Amino acid sequence: MENALFYGDNLGILREHFQDEIVDLIYLDPPFNSQKVYNVLFTTPKGHKSEAQVTAFGDYWSWGEQAEIEYTELLHQSNTEVAEMIRSLRGFLKESDVMAYLVMMATRLLELHRILKPTGSLYLHCDPTASHYLKIILDRVFSAENFRNEIVWKRFNFHADAKRFGKVSDRLLFYNKSSNFTFNKINVQFSEEYIDSKFTHYETDGRRYRLDNLNPPGGRGPIYEFHGVTKPWRCTLQKMLQLEAEGRIYSGSRIPQLKRYLDKLEGQAVHDIWTDIPPINPMAAERLGYPTQKPLALLERIIQASSNPGDIVLDPFCGCGTSIHAAQKLDRRWIGIDITHLAIDLIERRLKDAFPGIEFQVHGTPKDLEGARNLANRDKYEFQYWACNLVGAQPFQNKKKGADTGIDGLIFFQDDKETTKKIIVSVKGGEHVNRAMIADLKNSVDREGAKIGLFVSLVEPTEPMIHEAVSAGYYESPMEKSFQKIQILTISDLLSGAQSPQYPDLARGGLSFKKAKTEAEKGKQPGLFKN
Ligand SMILES: C[S@@+](CC[C@H](N)C(=O)[O-])C[C@H]1O[C@@H](n2cnc3c(N)ncnc32)[C@H](O)[C@@H]1O
Repeated sequence: MENALFYGDNLGILREHFQDEIVDLIYLDPPFNSQKVYNVLFTTPKGHKSEAQVTAFGDYWSWGEQAEIEYTELLHQSNTEVAEMIRSLRGFLKESDVMAYLVMMATRLLELHRILKPTGSLYLHCDPTASHYLKIILDRVFSAENFRNEIVWKRFNFHADAKRFGKVSDRLLFYNKSSNFTFNKINVQFSEEYIDSKFTHYETDGRRYRLDNLNPPGGRGPIYEFHGVTKPWRCTLQKMLQLEAEGRIYSGSRIPQLKRYLDKLEGQAVHDIWTDIPPINPMAAERLGYPTQKPLALLERIIQASSNPGDIVLDPFCGCGTSIHAAQKLDRRWIGIDITHLAIDLIERRLKDAFPGIEFQVHGTPKDLEGARNLANRDKYEFQYWACNLVGAQPFQNKKKGADTGIDGLIFFQDDKETTKKIIVSVKGGEHVNRAMIADLKNSVDREGAKIGLFVSLVEPTEPMIHEAVSAGYYESPMEKSFQKIQILTISDLLSGAQSPQYPDLARGGLSFKKAKTEAEKGKQPGLFKN
């Protein structure tokens, strides 16, 4: 298997596709049990209504049949400590929302532990809502001696919270599978404040240094006289004389001290409170509109610290794929899993924009008509999102209750210098389509001031539908070409490449999606593991 994205519930995918002990690093940023809905914001060019929002995922948990099934499984799997812990937790949390969430997490953490290499690491990104419960579960899954850090990441500079201190931080719970694990020490530049407060001495040539004592660690070191002072020193007399010959001894104080030059120091070792990685602000170039998108710098730090080039990084809740982007950038191999088409589609675009020519596999999305039909029967909305992606449209969701505008997707295009124009997409996943549906789309196109309407259907159109579409006439582009105003496209023709939407676009799709910045040309990477 090459670098791969999987669409689906990570539990089933981990169980079905992953052998034991194959992954080097796992980063997971699951929903936090915030009891909120998160929306993706799509880009909307000037002159069109404000940002379009589509539900990305709901972070709601409640005790139900699925929780009961996974709870029973937890009691019967082989890690009896986890079973005992979960049983105790249910004893006092009862059948609550948080218990449902913890059961979901414990089930997945056991699978993640199984597939992690003995030298591997796991970072669980969460917030203080449930971090205390997750930590005791992780202590049972990984064993408490393999707990390394609870990293506090300051994710907001400011957060207004009534009648309590502003909640500005997330938690990253860092565990290893054993005591023999990859860890590359990370240093960051000293802050200016730190430099100004510590590096207060200058050589005549302007070289800056700070002073350090020459005491031995723990107070025990060779005793001799140096500069008239007899005491235990940090190094031997011979080494001391060498330092003096190099000009590294400061004798302006009663007891000589060591000069530490700013230009020789590697920087400050990173500790477990991270305040130097700012959140993605609304105007940031890397912002793609995914609600819970994390900064690339955060993932780069984790990946650099806990893996090496060529290692395999897994993100089982990968959202818009920040970890995947960082892994590719740092020459790691990677696997991402997400339960929504929106996320998988966004990552595909993100990777292709950031790494032109990149190759990877996508599993779980329909590859043929049968797959598309299954998806349409299983989940109408996921089918719509997937079909929109097939024609390069951003999904559209009317937030007003009960409103069905017949618009499922939008494409923005440009065929003159001044204006951006709109295409409306209507997706039909049912087995029955009729002429009235084409007439509806025609009305929507006129009502919304769009130029073209795309009717994307799982089944073949009827003759009256084709006539209705033809009767809508043509869009005359200033580029001196005309395009059928209502275009009927079938899923099977789109999949085979026999059909594609016809419209002029000087912006080459760049108006409908936020583009990730190009990182570098990356070639094909070696295969991962067996299919
Ligand atoms: C907090 S977001 C991750 C954001 C990500 N770190 C980023 O930078 O974009 C959580 C993601 O988990 C996905 N998700 C929720 N339950 C899942 C499951 N059972 N299997 C796979 N993905 C799931 C959601 O669709 C959502 O995209």
